Amino acid sequence: MSSLDPVGTKDLARLCDLAQHEISDILATAAEFKRSPQAAAGALAGRSVCMLFEKPSLRTRMSFEVGCFRMGAQAIYLDHRESPLGRRETVADYGRNLERWCHAIVARVHSHATVTGLAAATRVPVVNALCDLHHPCQALADLQTLLERGFDLNHSRLAWVGDGNNVCHSLIEAASILGFGITVVTPRGFEPDAGIVGQCVARSMRTGARIEVTDDVRAIAGAFAVYTDTWTSMGQDDSAAKKACFEPYQVDRELMAVAGPKALFMHCLPAHRGEEVTDEVIDSPGSLVFDQAENRMHAQNALLCHLLAPKHAAGRATAAAAAR
Ligand code: CP
Ligand code: NVA
Repeated sequence: MSSLDPVGTKDLARLCDLAQHEISDILATAAEFKRSPQAAAGALAGRSVCMLFEKPSLRTRMSFEVGCFRMGAQAIYLDHRESPLGRRETVADYGRNLERWCHAIVARVHSHATVTGLAAATRVPVVNALCDLHHPCQALADLQTLLERGFDLNHSRLAWVGDGNNVCHSLIEAASILGFGITVVTPRGFEPDAGIVGQCVARSMRTGARIEVTDDVRAIAGAFAVYTDTWTSMGQDDSAAKKACFEPYQVDRELMAVAGPKALFMHCLPAHRGEEVTDEVIDSPGSLVFDQAENRMHAQNALLCHLLAPKHAAGRATAAAAAR
């Protein structure tokens, strides 16, 4: 018999686990939490959130820990960098233990199957804090950052330049759910996962999203923002041959000029300066990278409220709408 009654059961294994209206509500709450930090105070009082990490982190760990503190919740960090899940006991048994103490599980793991395995085995929400295929928390923060700058979901377009990786997948999912345009430019052989792109293109028939994947940098002309990420994600091979494929895709002054004079720059960080982006671009006035980092906390606080304290979140989203 369990003494812990789950206060929420919905998981966020990937961004498309959220409906369009849920993302809109989360973003409204996140904006309200940023405008009025007191609005988040006590929202998750008495709750415990387990944070298990198989990979390193600065932003994700800090933003969840500080965010939980602000909402009155306890965040417990479990370092699994040296002992990947499933080695000491099964992923399912691990999750069945955690749900006896914690109201939510935040997991940064190697394999997406670990996230879905935890979600299947437990009744508490499991939040993907990055895996090989997805980074939905990053996408929520990026959407908040874009909207702050006037990104128009009906008319603006985001450009992704570089590796078709986990962050890229979550942004394509965001476009397909919310109906905005995204142009993904990668070297040949480094395109986003064809299965994920196919699902997003199918969804875009309903939402009106324009999704384009190409190796031609000229396709970014007119984009609202140019987004890049490291050429080598955590745990991947970083051979010289691979780097050579990406060199024509470095985001430098010339590439930003292809997007246009008003184009903004985005990066989830950590950046490998001098590889995927030059100092000049990442340190330019049009760079949003530290806004993105800050917004991780506001967007995740709104997400945790959506999952664990929906009444509080609904009230904040209404307040945000009234303030607009
Ligand atoms: N963007 C991001 O997830 O950063 P960390 O790897 O530092 O958490
Ligand atoms: N694509 C990167 C994102 C880091 C936040 C990685 O997986 O390492």
